[in-house]
Amino acid sequence: MKVVTTIKQVREQVKSWHQSGASIGLVPTMGFLHEGHQSLMAAAKKDNQKVIVTIFVNPIQFGPSEDLASYPRDLQRDKIACEKMGVDLIFCPSTDEMYDTHFSSYVDVNGLTDALCGKRRPGHFKGVCTVVTKLFNITQPDRAYFGQKDAQQLAVIKRMVKDLNFNIEIIGCPIVREQDGLAKSSRNSYLSESERLAAVCLYQAIESANSMIKQGEKSVATIRTAMQDIIAKQSLAKIDYIEFVDLQTLTSVELLEQDSLCALAVYIGKTRLIDNFIYYHYYS
Ligand code: PAF
Repeated sequence: MKVVTTIKQVREQVKSWHQSGASIGLVPTMGFLHEGHQSLMAAAKKDNQKVIVTIFVNPIQFGPSEDLASYPRDLQRDKIACEKMGVDLIFCPSTDEMYDTHFSSYVDVNGLTDALCGKRRPGHFKGVCTVVTKLFNITQPDRAYFGQKDAQQLAVIKRMVKDLNFNIEIIGCPIVREQDGLAKSSRNSYLSESERLAAVCLYQAIESANSMIKQGEKSVATIRTAMQDIIAKQSLAKIDYIEFVDLQTLTSVELLEQDSLCALAVYIGKTRLIDNFIYYHYYS
């Protein structure tokens, strides 16, 4: 496994892989890798001859009051995880390598970014789309892998790839959970012991919504109230949002009569966690 920090080094490696006809799978990450990332690497490994993992905490996707400075980092541990997964190349650039002092071009996806996290984190998806575009251009992959946990990010990137004619297949991979249901996330490392226990309320709310839906409940207001009640039981939890949106357009739905995404963001102490599930109308 090679570990490189410059765009030039990636381009040289990618050129030789392309010349030999090898397919390339890309797993873009911000590091502090966990089993969720490992599942993306495993999928990339299965589908492609070569796998690139990028590790870059992208400053332009963090708001001024967000956790850029404290975002967890452990490159040594990440290297070991990648090696174990059979990754071929890690690209871990510095901020200066990615953004020179005169950097001034951004990629902005409209519409899909108006709701959910896009509404609460202005500029976040512009930062994500810009860095992902750069990583696509640098690594020239055949396929790129993203987690379903960041459901809006996945939808936005799929839209961007379609709109801008990237010749890259975007593959969404299922949420990986802890034993008690908490979705794996690098930000879980911020949680104290009591916060970690409280954090299970996101999954409990999802489970309760799913069982109401199974029993035939279609009213979003009713389901949302039940979810709010579960989360309210945890004094350390504060709801940022619980929203039901159309799976394609990400616009609000009031009745479950189409494929929908239920997404939630909840502060546990100071840590903002997200989770979601998809409701498929056809199968219900
Ligand atoms: O999902 C993430 O970790 C980041 O948003 C991504 C896609 C690596 C871009 O920085």
